[in-house]
Amino acid sequence: MRVRGRRTSWSKQAAQIAAVLLAGEIFGLRMPAQNSTAPAPSPVNPPWAYPVTPAGFQPPPDDGIPKRLTGSNAAFTLTQLRDVYTAHDWYPGDHPLMPDVVARGRKPDVLACAMCHLPNGQGRPENASLAGLPAAYIVQQMADFQAGRRKCSEPGMLPQNLMMTVGRNATVNEAKAAAVYFARLKYKPWIRVVETDSVPKTEVITGSMLAPVAGAGTEPIGQRIIETAEDLPRTELRDPRSGFVAYVPAGSIKKGGVLVNTGGGRTVQCTNCHGDDLKGLMDIPGLAGRSPSYVVRQLLDMQNGARAGAEVLPMKEVVARLTLDDIIAIAAYTASLTP
Ligand code: HEC
Ligand code: HEC
Repeated sequence: MRVRGRRTSWSKQAAQIAAVLLAGEIFGLRMPAQNSTAPAPSPVNPPWAYPVTPAGFQPPPDDGIPKRLTGSNAAFTLTQLRDVYTAHDWYPGDHPLMPDVVARGRKPDVLACAMCHLPNGQGRPENASLAGLPAAYIVQQMADFQAGRRKCSEPGMLPQNLMMTVGRNATVNEAKAAAVYFARLKYKPWIRVVETDSVPKTEVITGSMLAPVAGAGTEPIGQRIIETAEDLPRTELRDPRSGFVAYVPAGSIKKGGVLVNTGGGRTVQCTNCHGDDLKGLMDIPGLAGRSPSYVVRQLLDMQNGARAGAEVLPMKEVVARLTLDDIIAIAAYTASLTP
């Protein structure tokens, strides 16, 4: 973990600037100069699993009007919603008291965990659900981010870059406090999985999120998973009670079930380690009901070595022979299970 005194003031300043610029890009502050230097998407990663916000994408300007959600006494303007050191706690009664690092982070380079993962830990497709993950697993992942053993194979995904900044700079005690908090929460059904042949045409908006293009109609799903907000305006306000829908290719859930439960001659039964119901076993994370886009990214990142912590070794054999079609089917199946 970081020894504060050893950092030069230059590196501290650079980290601060990078954090602010990246945060601006992601959360909608208008920073065209930063937009124009966004790295180009990698040609190998499927863009629906690794969405990259196009350079120059402009989020809506703040109209200064405080936004509200049903059943909440809170109100936030768009500028407030873009503050990366705030949890945007619409429903404080929905969860226990958040530790400081989860609610506020630590300026400049530890952003509030709940800003992205939400105060109830349900997460979003471009990040990860943390609710109910084993605390030891969360601490281990933070150590892996810190040591550079866990990266993202898509350099253009800014939420991933920010997670790495947070991971590099959070102390062990901050990681533990966050881990204890998120592990206590119960992960609730959050993603509706729909098998289909056609999906709305989508674009990548601020924050590496897929959103339907208004009036653009539908297109064949092909071999993709399209995961998008059930109610985009609510998700844009970071409503922690409004979930997602994942469109998956027709037939994929059944195909994935065979791979997960028997190995299908291609892989090792997931249930051996992730538990019979895939809700996790000891320090191994659950998979049931979690974002299929997230699961696809993880399996590909394990295949290509971006995720390479010592604890990932048992997964190497699991992913070695999986094709992208297998991975799509597996993620469709695991997402369809009740958490
Ligand atoms: C800027 C948004 C952002 C913030 C703030 C943030 N994260 Fe993340 N986090 C992400 C993203 C994006 C991922 C998914 C990385 C990937 O796709 O591989 C992630 C993944 C994780 C994971 C891995 C989950 C898993 O199932 O393996 C953990 C653990 C985690 N974050 C913990 C934290 C903690 C603790 C904090 C606060 C100290 C935090 N995050 C703050 C964006 C964020
Ligand atoms: C031999 C044990 C073992 C088997 C079998 C196994 N896993 Fe895992 N899996 C693990 C461990 C251990 C981790 C945690 C890795 C880490 O700490 O980074 C993991 C992590 C994962 C993750 C990342 C979860 C997250 O929150 O980021 C996914 C996704 C995953 N496994 C999917 C699968 C699938 C799908 C299968 C079956 C096709 C499977 N695993 C089979 C041991 C296993």
